[in-house]
Amino acid sequence: MPSIRATAPSKVILFGEHAVVYGEPAIAVAIGLRTHVRIEKSERYMVNGYPLDEKYHSYILNALKLAWDDDPLEISTVSEVPSASGMGSSASVTVATLAALLAGKKKMDRLREDEIAKLGFEVEYITQGRASPIDTSTVTHGMGILVDRVERNNFLWRIEKNGVVWNVHHIQVPSLKLVVGFSGVKGATADMVAKVRRFYQWSSFAREIIREIGKITMKAVPALENGDYGRIGELMDRNNKLLTILGVNHPMLRRMISAARRYSYGAKITGAGGGGSMVALTDEQDEVAKAIEEVGGVPYKVSISSHGFQIENHL
Ligand code: MEV
Repeated sequence: MPSIRATAPSKVILFGEHAVVYGEPAIAVAIGLRTHVRIEKSERYMVNGYPLDEKYHSYILNALKLAWDDDPLEISTVSEVPSASGMGSSASVTVATLAALLAGKKKMDRLREDEIAKLGFEVEYITQGRASPIDTSTVTHGMGILVDRVERNNFLWRIEKNGVVWNVHHIQVPSLKLVVGFSGVKGATADMVAKVRRFYQWSSFAREIIREIGKITMKAVPALENGDYGRIGELMDRNNKLLTILGVNHPMLRRMISAARRYSYGAKITGAGGGGSMVALTDEQDEVAKAIEEVGGVPYKVSISSHGFQIENHL
């Protein structure tokens, strides 16, 4: 087998993180910052020059468990996104690895997006203990993705786990000028998901907040379809308040969000929170990036990627 290279974008969740774990709707877009993965045959399993280790390479290890039963591999990864930044670096490395593995199994001619997306979801679920398909489906398919418990227009595929049903769809999004602000604090998705879960289990108030996030997400669908930036921003702000009540905010995120708001339609935590990143919707990307930098964050001016995963070399 010659070496195989695959790539996948990262993502920004615009609405519905955390709530989507319980079957509420969520909307995310793929962004142009990509992860590149190369696989080639080797004497033993290695990742970036080090022996494959569950502690450091858990997503890759689980991708191998689900999609590879051949000779050992040397796997190299390069990512344009920092890990644990809330921009889907783990989904991106998972999906790019799975694409390379399936291409390596000579399934090139029938590499199906839904197959990769479903496997990607399983990998995240096993690795994190719990997950929704929002991250992995967005980086697999590209563009805008709406996940919901009911089937809607532009349906792609459906999956059910532990009594929760998710239908994955493409959603039309206008051209969005986004700035992501990385706090520099790594957010542990599994820990944040577990924290929200505890709150959800013992508090009917938390369950109400989760349902309210779902309602805001559905209100965002027509706003996105009509390109109503003012309304999208207003809904982002409301979603952010509810995420704060769920306990996933962080002082650095708060600082970046209020700095960015001066030049934005709206701004919110994106991804699991507890560190990680915020996202702002704006017409003034440079001003927002500067404001984020001034309070100590790392800004990324991002644009939507129409490409999901891609195989970079052909067999
Ligand atoms: C993490 O990017 C998004 C969460 O909703 C977890 C998930 O959906 O798997 C927090």
